[in-house]
Amino acid sequence: MSANLNQTNIEIDDPNFQALFADLQGNILKGHGRDDSRHIFFRFTGNSDENCRWVESFAGEVTSTLAQHQQILSYKRDRHHQLFVNFMLSCSGYLALDIPQKYWPQDKAFRSGMKDLQVCYDTLPRGDHSPKSNPLNDDVQQWESAFRNRVDGMILLAYGGDSARETRQILDDKVSELKKQLAGIAEITLVQAGYVMRNEKEQVIEHFGFVDGVSNPKFLFSDLNEEFKNGGYSRNDPSASLNTVLVKDPGGDNNSYGTYVTYRKLQQNIKGFWKKLDLLANTLSELGQQKVDAEYAGALCVGRFKDGTPISEQGNDGWSNLFNNFNYDDDVDGLRCPFHSHTRKTNPRGDTVRQFNSPPTIEQSRRIVRRGISFGDKNLNPDSEWTDAGLLFISLQASIVDQFIFMQHTWCNNEGFVRENTGIDPLVGQVLPGENIQPQSWPGKWGNGAGKVDFEFSGFVRTLGGEYLFMPSIHFLRHLSTLD
Ligand code: HEM
Repeated sequence: MSANLNQTNIEIDDPNFQALFADLQGNILKGHGRDDSRHIFFRFTGNSDENCRWVESFAGEVTSTLAQHQQILSYKRDRHHQLFVNFMLSCSGYLALDIPQKYWPQDKAFRSGMKDLQVCYDTLPRGDHSPKSNPLNDDVQQWESAFRNRVDGMILLAYGGDSARETRQILDDKVSELKKQLAGIAEITLVQAGYVMRNEKEQVIEHFGFVDGVSNPKFLFSDLNEEFKNGGYSRNDPSASLNTVLVKDPGGDNNSYGTYVTYRKLQQNIKGFWKKLDLLANTLSELGQQKVDAEYAGALCVGRFKDGTPISEQGNDGWSNLFNNFNYDDDVDGLRCPFHSHTRKTNPRGDTVRQFNSPPTIEQSRRIVRRGISFGDKNLNPDSEWTDAGLLFISLQASIVDQFIFMQHTWCNNEGFVRENTGIDPLVGQVLPGENIQPQSWPGKWGNGAGKVDFEFSGFVRTLGGEYLFMPSIHFLRHLSTLD
């Protein structure tokens, strides 16, 4: 009998889910929790039989959801660190393994790949009958060569040792071992290092300096319980049913599920971002009704202050609480948290219900699971623009088209969402190369409609590459050569 994917709030040792969790890769329902990772992109070069035999043998090293849980228990018991491993394939990877098409994941974006700018998707809430050809507005010519060329798959290694040196050693040794194993099977096209950055309070931050990874859909009882203790659910329910992130793996058995992965290497222009925030703060102070600084202007862009405080909940007097139990019911006109701010664009928390009378479940069904990590130089105050710094954005979802692409295209890149003339998301919104961008409208005073100020803010994050992948079941990886 297959599992009921409408369920949420699941105990990790629920007997009904043991077979599923033993076969499901880790890092999907709960983040792997390590501070360092390597993303190893590869392209198969061998013949399909040899390729399949190697994947089948490597399947034994992939960490399942259950194994991840056992690793957590063993760490708590005796501080024993263990390597975490995910394995994912792109559509060209399925082709190179010669997997019969009936076993391929169905998602249209997965089948086309991220580089294909000609393919059309339904990106309007009720289906788009004249979809744009390039829903993400990417400029693939600007991508790094590893991503402009064919990517067949990615192995994610993650480790968190007692010292940075130990961690580097373990990860580098594993990469060297993989290079040897893959000789004659696949070419490693990129080894991308990622690491978690933290602020002085040990909270995870991204390169602009804001606390990140706060709001994510939750599936397990332990995670929901923790979030409940951190503020409750009275104004925002973080629970999500398994079908937000899981789909049946067409190549597995009855208990086999997988997830679609969106990978995007996003470079951040830290110096440019803060320079423009200074300008925005000066403009708001001059034309608005309140004197503000760059940090406040940054909170208007992100939707949260650097310490994670949602700007809809608090003005600029420094109250600090990392907090997810909020919505925009007391800010229906976007006068505290602008409609265009990054967190409001990517999780409107009821705006679409108010604006379009759309059922809340539809809005919630767009949620993605974020498992990204930073890359590059750790200096948050660089001397020049566009340094080697940014986010390895990883989102997991049951449908790339209805979740990630919809969120990026129909919300972040859409100047008319959630109301006319809202403007694009100032962090990650992008228009077609060469197209004009209209200014966003900023509240001149927290919670006050008088004195709105028009100011264009965008262009400080650019895409260096990416791919759509599928993280299949372990059963599938173990039995590739038996599929016919
Ligand atoms: C370099 C690029 C990016 C940066 C610096 C960034 C930064 C942030 C920050 C600081 C938060 C608030 C903390 C949190 O709730 O975790 C956030 C939330 C979020 N971001 Fe991003 N982000 C980036 C790219 C993206 C992209 C490409 C998407 C999807 C299209 C996205 C989707 C989300 C979502 C869904 C949330 C949670 C919103 C909520 O539930 O309140 N982010 N991001």
